[in-house]
Amino acid sequence: MTGLAIIVLAAGMGTRMKSALPKVMHKAASRSLLGHVLSAAKALAPDRIVVVHGPGQEAVKAEATRYAPDAMMAEQSERKGTGHAVMQAGPALAGFSGKVLVLYGDTPLIRKESLYPLLAGSAGMAVLGFRASNPHGYGRLIASGSAILAIREELDATPEERKITLCNSGIICIANELLSQLLPQLSNANAKGEYYLTDLVELANTAGVTVSLNECPESETIGVNDRIQLAAVEAEFQRRYRHEAMLGGATLADPATVYFSADTKIGRDTVIEPNVFFGPGVTVGDNVEILANCHIEGATIAKGARIGPFARLRPGADIGEDAHVGNFVEVKKSRIGKGAKANHLSYIGDARVGAGSNIGAGTITCNYDGYEKHLTEIGENVFVGSNSALVAPVRIGTGVNIAAGSVITQSVPDDALAMTRPQLVVKEGWAKRYRAAKQAKKAKA
Ligand code: UD1
Ligand code: CA
Repeated sequence: MTGLAIIVLAAGMGTRMKSALPKVMHKAASRSLLGHVLSAAKALAPDRIVVVHGPGQEAVKAEATRYAPDAMMAEQSERKGTGHAVMQAGPALAGFSGKVLVLYGDTPLIRKESLYPLLAGSAGMAVLGFRASNPHGYGRLIASGSAILAIREELDATPEERKITLCNSGIICIANELLSQLLPQLSNANAKGEYYLTDLVELANTAGVTVSLNECPESETIGVNDRIQLAAVEAEFQRRYRHEAMLGGATLADPATVYFSADTKIGRDTVIEPNVFFGPGVTVGDNVEILANCHIEGATIAKGARIGPFARLRPGADIGEDAHVGNFVEVKKSRIGKGAKANHLSYIGDARVGAGSNIGAGTITCNYDGYEKHLTEIGENVFVGSNSALVAPVRIGTGVNIAAGSVITQSVPDDALAMTRPQLVVKEGWAKRYRAAKQAKKAKA
């Protein structure tokens, strides 16, 4: 969108979080609050994005760059309020003429669809409000019809004003010229001794500019000040992502028990059973079955695959078409080829498993020597017998059979049998004699 600049306020201390981590770095649906806000900002394709961060917040700057590589940074060296924070973006907006949208880094649920009407308005200034089920803590909108006369902060409001449920989301849109005209007029003569951005509304009215009201659903405006609100935001993201997955053609047997990340991608006709957690970076193809109780992150699952129950896919797990990964199998940084199966009790790390291979129960890739990780390469149509240890680096050729219980320490050529097995000893009648002796001794005692 041309003629649009976005300021994201992310410098607050987040005192109420009681955390060493800056508030906007806390996560919901595996993405930082700042990441969510910047994703929404990027979706509007603005000319400029300015992130206002606190002093020494290198992690916040790095996170901002991750989601908006072209964002400009403005440091607010002392936290003197939201109005003061916006003032710090001044230099970054020099020479810009157009609309400025202010987003709060702690209000991550906002959707671009709710921002469009705010941006499309013709008024010099517009505020995004919402009807709060519990307005406590939010600024109240003093409205007259569709115009807003003032925003009163909780601490500064009269008991009458506190009864108002029409609240400030914190999001405003204002012409840059008007913003630079009004910002110097802000004062900190209020309960918190801060420069409130919200006071711009009264100042605009005094200057004869109408401030219009746009409303959006309360679910998009939850501001995170403490961890209870963080949990509320998490719940709302999960509700949203569950709906998106189902509307996209996935079946969720018990949606409330499936947890998604902001970037999870789920294909059509994929069925997800109860108690499944998707960490960041997961892509699931069509017609995949994810059975109950799986933990999946950083993984790609191709169409037709079957995962679980009780499987763990860690970053770099690349599960091929129609492959099966069953109960108590952990896969890390490994490719499981088309139609390959690892159905029970295995660890597959730093490995490549060829198409059609079968990894028997209890197979372990010994990928770590205490210092470095090593690769295990398994060809196509290999049969790995149960309880085998593959000591990497090792290469198992195509069509190999590995006898159960083997410890494979060197590479095996195509179509060979590999076996490490102590001699089997069978003593006929021994067990019967043993029992008889033991029972006789017990009877005597
Ligand atoms: C603010 C609004 C309130 C609104 C609510 C919505 C003001 C004065 N009040 O209150 O009307 O209902 O949000 O959630 O704006 N920040 C800075 N620098 C500062 C102070 C804050 O960058 O000096 C940032 C914070 O990181 C945060 C945002 O601004 O992302 C909002 O600050 P916060 O202190 O949480 O404001 P609220 O009290 O929630
Ligand atoms: Ca807040």
